[in-house]
Amino acid sequence: MAEAPNDLDAYWMPFTANRQFKAAPRLMASASGMHYRMADGRQILDGTAGLWCVNAGHCRDEIADAIAAQARSLDYATAFQMGHPAAFTLATRLARLAPGDLDHVFYVNSGSEAVETALKIALAYHHARGEGRRGRLIGRERGYHGVNFGGMAVGGIGNNRKQFGPGLGAVDHLPHTHDLAHNAFSRGQPAWGAHLADDLLRLIALHDATTIAAVIVEPVAGSTGVLVPPVGYLERLREICDAHGILLIFDEVITGYGRLGAAFAATRFNVLPDLMTTAKGLTNAAVPMGAVFARRHIYDALMTGPEPAIELFHGYTYSGHPLACAAALATLDIYEKENLFARARALEPYFENAVHRLDDVAGVIDVRNIGLAAGVELASRQGRPGARAYEVFLKCLELGLLTRQAGDTIALSPPLIASEGDIDQMADILGQAIAATA
Ligand SMILES: Cc1ncc(COP(=O)(O)O)c(C=O)c1O
Repeated sequence: MAEAPNDLDAYWMPFTANRQFKAAPRLMASASGMHYRMADGRQILDGTAGLWCVNAGHCRDEIADAIAAQARSLDYATAFQMGHPAAFTLATRLARLAPGDLDHVFYVNSGSEAVETALKIALAYHHARGEGRRGRLIGRERGYHGVNFGGMAVGGIGNNRKQFGPGLGAVDHLPHTHDLAHNAFSRGQPAWGAHLADDLLRLIALHDATTIAAVIVEPVAGSTGVLVPPVGYLERLREICDAHGILLIFDEVITGYGRLGAAFAATRFNVLPDLMTTAKGLTNAAVPMGAVFARRHIYDALMTGPEPAIELFHGYTYSGHPLACAAALATLDIYEKENLFARARALEPYFENAVHRLDDVAGVIDVRNIGLAAGVELASRQGRPGARAYEVFLKCLELGLLTRQAGDTIALSPPLIASEGDIDQMADILGQAIAATA
């Protein structure tokens, strides 16, 4: 077991209350399958697949072996004007996994980089077609698209924006679809809310379609507490984008690789975006990696001009890193061999029933779910939004369960290998924790 470090000061932790954490640290030492082991030896059930990313469960030998073998044979290859075989093999496999003609893959190292890349490809696409005036990007309130400048601008979570100045100018936002008066305690897609997509028509009237490059949404918003799209909503967005020459980007950093019981949300909802961002589950989180999928017309629009010319002035030192490619290939093998996406779909009704056992617990104001993702929203403490869910998060940890807090919502997103017993345990512990913090 790893020893607890004795000085916590130097590490500036991300998205963490540093001083509070360092006063009472929570250190993970190891992991296996559905569980973490804390530095104090306690075993914790992973209710969140790490951070929505360890879809095949922890410390899979096949992935560890593939990474080790790759590190010994080709540790690094520059991705600029050079290549290595695994990057091409992986792209071909990913293109086969993706729906429709989302058959070109651009590698990045994180969800945030995937978003920046997709936004830049959207702009470059319009530029290549002589529509460079289309520079405006439309996001959605409560959207999370990572932390870099483009993603922050199209994102819609106030706390993630307010410290960082004016950011990108040509951006606007659709309204979010979360409305407890209409949608509380929905199972799967809520029936109410498709009309909210029509707000895009208002933004088109305001800005003119010829200034709008792309709309980016999470098909299921994860980080803001699992907001499931109303029936017909994504279809309507697709329709409006098509009618006005606007690209539709699905940010599938959370929904990709089986979270919804299908390879992608685009697969499950049968709505084809022009660009799709992914990361997290791509490598089972063992090596950081993201992949942006582009439909053929996007790629083709840029494959013009003289052949010796670089078509897209974009990329990262670690795009398609050999270790990440090895991890991704081994991860895809596991998903396929263990049929994990179909497994998640088959488990969904059980998971749904388990989380909705919390509907009547005092203080719960909404439970919502789709695939193996659920949000349990709590009544906020007077004047202290988020305080209740933080207490519940701590109580769950004390009782042996890792959850994720988003405002006053507790999110569950277990690894796709979860058993029915694991799911019962998650719902039971969460119920106890909510009751204990009443
Ligand atoms: C939808 C979405 N986009 C982008 C990101 C950013 O990913 P990363 O933290 O890997 O940069 C996240 C992370 O949770 C996400 O949920």
